[in-house]
Amino acid sequence: MQEPHDQRDNILTAVVDKKDKPLFTPGPLTTSSTVKQAMLRDLGSRDGEFIDVVKKIRAKLLQLAGVSQSAGWESVLMQGSGTFAIESVISSITPPEGKWLVVINGAYGERLLKIIECHEIAAEAIRCAENELPDPVAIQDALKTGRFTHVAVVHCETTSGIMNPIAEVGALAKAAGCVYFVDSMSAFGGVEFDFSACEIDFLVSSANKCVQGVPGFGFALCRRTALEATEGHSRTVSLDLLAQWRGLEANGQFRFTPPTHTLLAFARALDELEAEGGVGARAARYQENHETCIKGMRAIGFEEYVPADLQGHIITSFLYPTDNFDFEEFYDRLNNKGFVIYPGKVTKADCFRMGHIGHLFTADTEMLLAAVEDVVGEMNLSLV
Ligand SMILES: Cc1ncc(COP(=O)(O)O)c(C=O)c1O
Repeated sequence: MQEPHDQRDNILTAVVDKKDKPLFTPGPLTTSSTVKQAMLRDLGSRDGEFIDVVKKIRAKLLQLAGVSQSAGWESVLMQGSGTFAIESVISSITPPEGKWLVVINGAYGERLLKIIECHEIAAEAIRCAENELPDPVAIQDALKTGRFTHVAVVHCETTSGIMNPIAEVGALAKAAGCVYFVDSMSAFGGVEFDFSACEIDFLVSSANKCVQGVPGFGFALCRRTALEATEGHSRTVSLDLLAQWRGLEANGQFRFTPPTHTLLAFARALDELEAEGGVGARAARYQENHETCIKGMRAIGFEEYVPADLQGHIITSFLYPTDNFDFEEFYDRLNNKGFVIYPGKVTKADCFRMGHIGHLFTADTEMLLAAVEDVVGEMNLSLV
């Protein structure tokens, strides 16, 4: 007969030791067992220990961006997936007469526009191909008209893996006197950039991307003066950014039930990011994953969709290698061998994607490549 605590320990061991398939996806991602373990607690949302966790997370997020509260920055945590945090910012910060210029080269840029339009806020888009960078002259010309109050762009457009020039767009937004919003969902924490130099007013990312936590909340890093200027603009109750910030500042608590377990995991993930050596070291690991992946995939006979000089190290889109390539079969065969990849999302080419972020290392990528090589053989694809 097992003692109750023995039974509990057995369950913990089973949970932590379970070897899940590595996720070569844009998130949710493979996380460390210690991040998963950090969730195995039940803390009350008004408990002092939990409130300290929230406080620490908010401070560390600013630190990651290289800014601080004393320098005029705030971090606001918002329940839900990353899109909820984006919707929170957009629907909370736009005055009734506001108008957005949205720079789009992929599905996540399109989603920003959809959110803006859903709230019946005025907007125009500047679009380019999904494997091209936006044209700064077109952005400048649009902004010169003086029609816009807000500018939005996606940092790493996870649709393709392309890395957008957020500093360049920020300089144009600033010169035009616009509020500047960056969707850095898949990049923040895994890509080095000078936050202050980018002229960002609001940046959004989420728990389950490059910080390597688990899903459950998103966060906005906000220039305090820009945030304070949004009084009365919120179009929702639950996603009210200013109210959420004021609640967190007043008593350290969320206004509504917080994802306590996710926050515990995230606090641990932030510690692990620091222990790894910070954003620079994490970016270097992802870069190595990415380089190993594309080198191996090219050798097998695959080709990337985005030109190499525009491609980031977060996720890579590979073109279907043949006209009659059966992605479902390719995916299933890889999955059966224990590797999870991701379908494509670009609109003008047939692609699939492989992510390089999460608790994954060169050896994981090498095992994936060996499995890809086997699957290519099994499917009789003659690629090289
Ligand atoms: C750039 C970008 N924006 C927004 C999102 C949406 O985030 P979520 O699926 O957490 O709502 C994603 C998700 O991968 C993303 O990569």
